[in-house]
Amino acid sequence: MLEKDIETILITQEEIHNRCEKLGKELTAAYKNTQPLVVGVLKGAIPFMADIVRQMDTYIELDFMDVSSYGDATVSSGEVKIVKDLDTNVKGRDMLIVEDIIDSGRTLRYLVDLFKYRQANSVAIVTLLDKPKGRVVDIEADYIGFDVPDEFVVGYGLDFAEQYRNLPYVGVLKPNIYETKV
Ligand code: PRP
Ligand code: MN
Ligand code: MG
Repeated sequence: MLEKDIETILITQEEIHNRCEKLGKELTAAYKNTQPLVVGVLKGAIPFMADIVRQMDTYIELDFMDVSSYGDATVSSGEVKIVKDLDTNVKGRDMLIVEDIIDSGRTLRYLVDLFKYRQANSVAIVTLLDKPKGRVVDIEADYIGFDVPDEFVVGYGLDFAEQYRNLPYVGVLKPNIYETKV
């Protein structure tokens, strides 16, 4: 049903699965001697987080943070605010932030700075998607699933007006969807 709103599929379910297996092996090796706190950034990171942590065959803990940088718009407002903070004290911890996408970089720049300020021992980033053309502030992920072009992508956690997060793949919406909802 949802597929009728999709112009093109950019990354298939199978491609995502295979990439998660590969990244999971790298992360398992990277964190085999520590018990990282794996932080999912609500809400977009949820599907990717669920898949990536099940490919990490080592001891980890999970926590969540909700920060919002933009609402129902396709363009960032530039503001970052904490909606839900971590439950865990991060001082001295090794942290792995899980994201669905890095666009302007504001969300992750803010989180990395916050966790360093709270004296985490290390802070790394794994993101399903990287959109290098969108970057406004300086930040790079340590582990990247796929690069995406400078288009508004949805699915696998990524929303348009809170919809389409549950698509099992990443795609581009048909233009008429924006025209009717914005
Ligand atoms: C989106 C996305 C990233 C962030 C990336 O989240 O999931 O978290 O924006 O953009 P940036 O690099 O320009 O900061 P959003 O704030 O829309 O919240 P959501 O995850 O609940 O959709
Ligand atoms: Mn998000
Ligand atoms: Mg969003």
